[in-house]
Amino acid sequence: MSTAQVLKARVRAETPHTGIDTVDAKQLADGLARSLAETYVLYVKTQGCHWNVVGPLFYGLHKLTEEQYQGLAKAADEIAERIRALGHPAPASFSEFLQLSDVKEMSGRHSAQDMLTTLIADHETVARTFRDLVGLAEKGNDVVTADLLTDRIHAHEEAAWMLRSIASV
Ligand SMILES: [Fe+2]
Repeated sequence: MSTAQVLKARVRAETPHTGIDTVDAKQLADGLARSLAETYVLYVKTQGCHWNVVGPLFYGLHKLTEEQYQGLAKAADEIAERIRALGHPAPASFSEFLQLSDVKEMSGRHSAQDMLTTLIADHETVARTFRDLVGLAEKGNDVVTADLLTDRIHAHEEAAWMLRSIASV
């Protein structure tokens, strides 16, 4: 292959021979694309709360959202790379993320209480998206994706609990 051809290489669907059916891999990649989109939108939203929170809840919410957005950024990378390992391209633009995600953007000014209410609902939304996909991963013998999803459900349930605990002060 010439250098020109190498430089023109583009990502395309591949078929890894690791024991996962091709149709299952495509369905899992599609489900993970939605999971990635929701993780990314929630990452941006959480960072916005970290930056803009004011009032008596500032310190606790500023610190907690920092931990949470860092976790979401790491998770987005892991989910995207799992899509690639399944042989499919990962969505990587805000327009795709917003189209795929049930978690919606948050702009403008908000009270700390509004931020908490919104983030709690969003973590619950993402946990449901991941949970819906676990059955498909198990059915397709994709234990790696099932493990990743299980870890993420745990993280989102924990995040919602911690935010709820601040909200009920
Ligand atoms: Fe910061």
